[in-house]
Order: sequence, then C-alpha cells, then structure tokens
Amino acid sequence: MSKHTYKKKKVKINYVRFILSMLIIFGIIAGIVFLVQKCADKKDNDDKNSSSSNLSSSQIVSSKPEPKPEPTYEERVGKEYAIDIEPYLEYIEPEDKYEYVFLVNPTHTLASDYVPEDLTDCGHTRKDGRATQKMRLAAAKALQAFLAEGKKTGKVTNVTVTSAYRSYAYQNQLFTQYFNRDWATGKYATKEECEKHVLTYSTKPGTSEHQSGLCCDMHNIPSAEQYFAQKPEAKWLAENCYRFGFILRYPEDKQDITKIIYEPWHFRFVGRDAATEMHEKGMCLEEYIEYKGLDN
Ligand code: DAL
Ligand code: ZN
Repeated sequence: MSKHTYKKKKVKINYVRFILSMLIIFGIIAGIVFLVQKCADKKDNDDKNSSSSNLSSSQIVSSKPEPKPEPTYEERVGKEYAIDIEPYLEYIEPEDKYEYVFLVNPTHTLASDYVPEDLTDCGHTRKDGRATQKMRLAAAKALQAFLAEGKKTGKVTNVTVTSAYRSYAYQNQLFTQYFNRDWATGKYATKEECEKHVLTYSTKPGTSEHQSGLCCDMHNIPSAEQYFAQKPEAKWLAENCYRFGFILRYPEDKQDITKIIYEPWHFRFVGRDAATEMHEKGMCLEEYIEYKGLDN
C-alpha cells in the first residue's frame, strides 16, 4: 500500500468516525429534548386534570338543588290573608307557642281571685248597653285581626261580642241564674239532676274559661243559640279561626270529651301554631293537650 493510499484511507476512517459521533450526539440531544417535552406534556395534563376535576366538583356543588326555603304559613295552609297580618303576628303567634294552651274546666280550675293582668278592650262589643267586653291582650289583638279579615273579605260584617272575660263572681251569678231558671220549669225531679243539665251549657265559677280572658262568645243573632251554626258567618268563623289563633272550643263532634254542648259562638284563643295543628289533626283542646303532654 502506497503512503498516499494509506493517508486517504485514514482520512476516510476519521470522516466516518466524525459522522458517527455527530449521529450519537444528535441522538443524545434528541433523546433529552424528547424526555423534557414528555415531562412538560405530563405536567400540563396533570394540571388540566386537576383543574377540570376542581371545576366538576364546583359544578356539582352549584348544580346541587338549592335547599328549598321553608314554606310561609300562608303557603302551608293554602290561604292568604286579605288584611296586613304583620302588625298582629306578635300576638297571634306568641313567642312561647304553648303559653295559652291550657285547660280551664271542672278538673282544671282558676282561683276565685284570679284576674288576668293584661285585660284590654277586645273591640266589637255588641252595642246594646252591655259593658265593654275585655280579653287578654294577645287574644284581643287576635280577635281584631280575625274580624278585620272577615270584614275585608266581606264574609263577616255584623258579628259582635256578647261575652268575653267574666269574673269569678259574675260566673257565679250566671250559673245560679241558669240553675234557678231551669229548676223553675219543674222538669227536674232533683236539684242534682237540674244542676247536671245546667252543667252541659254553663260552668261553675272557677271552671269557666271566660275567667281566663282568652275566649269570647260572638254571633249575629239575638242570643247564643245553635242555629247560628247554619249562618254563613258562623261557617266562615269556624273555618278560618285557626289562622288567627282561635279554636271553636266546644265542637259538635267532641261533646263526649268536652262535656259541653255544641257552642258555635264560643271561640278560645290558644295561639296560631296550636290552633293550626288542632285544625289539621281535627282535635279539640282536651285531645291536643293530651297528645302534646301539656296537661296543666
Ligand atoms: N258556656 C261555657 C261552657 C262557659 O260557661 O264557660
Ligand atoms: Zn262562651
């Protein structure tokens, strides 16, 4: 081999080595670039995934059905007030919803000297010369709302209060008067029998809820008689009294429990919550008090 040929071959070998080295270096650089790119892509994906999962969780929160607001009283009972009830609410819905839920009857008596402290003119006293009738403040305000509603709706325009708070002494006078009247008829063999009869429509002093100042007798006939129940005014009063915190205290279908005849004119204030629940459950006061465990 000539020296020239040898040199030529060496140059060729060096050239091949250079090319290979370049390829290897290029391969390494390409590999590094590829790895860096892959890492960057992965981070991008991770970020996207975490932000999209955040988004979906926040979407889940916002797409959860909003908790429904508590229905208003009017929505619950399906009746709107025609009057502005707001100024009366503090009275018809006492803070202690059972404050006025108690019995006054022969087994739950009031002391002879008991006189409610907050007696107030209940308005609507029949204008026939009788004294202004009074009730406890909450009951009086509730009655004013009740009859204002009757007037505004045109359903009750001429109902008046004939008897509300009665003192122990006045109840004694009334009971004695009824007894003497019935005894004088000669229909009763004994005084016990006569008294038993009077006790179906009147009560002895200390056992009348009229002494509590929480009830009233109201109607639009000359004197309290059961035919009042047939009048449209009586029907409206009976159907709507609970919305103002009143109950018809001696219902027709509860005489075996109350021991008093049907009195479509006698309304007792107990507060709207209790009155509404009694209306919904079809309970009289004795039943409701037992049901709630409120016996006094
Ligand atoms: N009339 C009712 C029962 C009373 O006298 O209390
Ligand atoms: Zn009465």
